[in-house]
Amino acid sequence: MDYKQYITIVEDWPKEGIKFKDITTLMDNGQAFKSAVDDIVEYARQKDVDIVVGPEARGFIVGCPVAYALEIGFAPVRKEGKLPRDVIKVDYGLEYGENVLTIHKDAIKPGQRVLIIDDLLATGGTVEASIDLVEQLGGEVAGCAFLIELTYLNGRDKLKDYDILTLMQY
Ligand code: PRP
Repeated sequence: MDYKQYITIVEDWPKEGIKFKDITTLMDNGQAFKSAVDDIVEYARQKDVDIVVGPEARGFIVGCPVAYALEIGFAPVRKEGKLPRDVIKVDYGLEYGENVLTIHKDAIKPGQRVLIIDDLLATGGTVEASIDLVEQLGGEVAGCAFLIELTYLNGRDKLKDYDILTLMQY
């Protein structure tokens, strides 16, 4: 499916000069959203994954239906102060801004094959931090899947050792 027809480009949001890729117009089309999720599910089956990890907030939107379809678990990566039990944390840079990401210490069992899912690969900072968290817990990153890749930000350069699926490239 040509998914780009369902993405809305919003100029100068959230800051001047950013052409924001709005996925909500893909999500609110049932067939397009299902097809995108199914494509990632197919990839996950090939990678034989045990659990999905997704960073907030849009990683939840894409990651949870994939985990549901595979009948496997989903572990959230969240910004600092959001998870209620013992966490490990990592600093990360963003396309715009800076932050800390956390995951529950018991979210991943050593040796589990993990698929990291997010809506967008931009600079790669978020997925790199998520990989760091998974590997600190002894998980094996079997792959990373995104709806959108902003190729001009070279996020892939941070992911040379990992397998990546992106459904759209800009
Ligand atoms: C966006 C997007 C990815 C990340 C990609 O999330 O949903 O998670 O940025 O950028 P990167 O590859 O440069 O790290 P954002 O930080 O805006 O968080 P939100 O989904 O909670 O709004």
